[in-house]
Amino acid sequence: MRIPIAKPALGEEEKKSVMQVLDSGMIACGSVVEELEGEFASYCQVKHGVATTSGTSALCVALKCLGVSGEDRVLTTPFSFIATANSILYCAAKPVFADIEEDSFNLDPVEVEKKLSEDDKITTLLLVHLYGLPCDMKPLLKLAREYQLHLVEDCAQAHGALYDGKKVGSFGDAGCFSFYPTKNMATGEGGLIVSDDDDFVDRSRLYINHGQKIRYQHDVLGFNYRLTNLQAALGLEQLKKLNGFNEVRIKNASFLTDGLSDLSWLKTPAVPPGSKHVFHQYTVRVADRDSFTTYLSDNGIGYGIHYPSTICSQPYYQSLGYDGSYPVAEQAASEVVSLPVHPMLTREELDYIVDTIRIYRR
Ligand SMILES: Cc1ncc(COP(=O)(O)O)c(C=O)c1O
Repeated sequence: MRIPIAKPALGEEEKKSVMQVLDSGMIACGSVVEELEGEFASYCQVKHGVATTSGTSALCVALKCLGVSGEDRVLTTPFSFIATANSILYCAAKPVFADIEEDSFNLDPVEVEKKLSEDDKITTLLLVHLYGLPCDMKPLLKLAREYQLHLVEDCAQAHGALYDGKKVGSFGDAGCFSFYPTKNMATGEGGLIVSDDDDFVDRSRLYINHGQKIRYQHDVLGFNYRLTNLQAALGLEQLKKLNGFNEVRIKNASFLTDGLSDLSWLKTPAVPPGSKHVFHQYTVRVADRDSFTTYLSDNGIGYGIHYPSTICSQPYYQSLGYDGSYPVAEQAASEVVSLPVHPMLTREELDYIVDTIRIYRR
């Protein structure tokens, strides 16, 4: 048996929608993109959506259009995909890191407060709902208010996740999503910013389109970060299925937890009360990761390491002089292994994953 760690769930509906766009000849940015922006924003319980070429460009545009620039410091997590912190560097601002919580893998509000009290140049909080689990928003929102910070949510892994019944992406100034094929919904490449702030949205629309509202009149320095109708057609069909995909992910996760949580050498993911975890990843911890992952490979079980090192220990960040210590994130980076949880898994595959892992140490 060979079980991939991720598999986009694309069907006849996606094919038909993409063919309709092809037949229309309007394959660049247009009305299908606008439709996706509206539908996705209302899915997130937010007023506006601005589609972009990727989650990375969504983050860059959001920070840029909130005014983040050279003098600013942006507080974020050291335990995420590199795009989170890089988006700060692209704005010529400085990422500042705070350590994470052991159980949630998300920013620890206590550590966030420590950093904020030490550094008055921090203007923005960029948090990440890692693996599909919302951050502990109550204390983080309180800190953002107290220190008058912009708040950007990196929701690249958390489409549809809820904190106290409220969708991620709807808490801050902007929520940024990715539609990369491994994500809970996919358009190939693609991203989307959601926001309630009309002015911020106007600036974002300008920025993604070379600073032009009127054709060939360029009011600000922008870029080409436009999504295409072809990708948006995929996105609209995927969005219709997103709740269903998430429910299957949650069911698969609880099947894995039921089958693995009694193993003393492996730690299954925790879901705090009041949070809806949408299991972009199902990430366990093991002490002897190398031999465990070799065993998974030998038995045809795909896995991922999200992530093998903290962002600040990456060579580029080291070259910038980052030398802070983030013990909880570093420990997580040495132990985490993501197992398949995607909605295309069959019952037979889920049984196989559990049965195979259970005999690893026998
Ligand atoms: C947490 C996080 N932020 C940002 C991104 C960037 O998204 P994209 O790959 O669409 O640029 C990703 C993608 O993996 C991500 O996981």
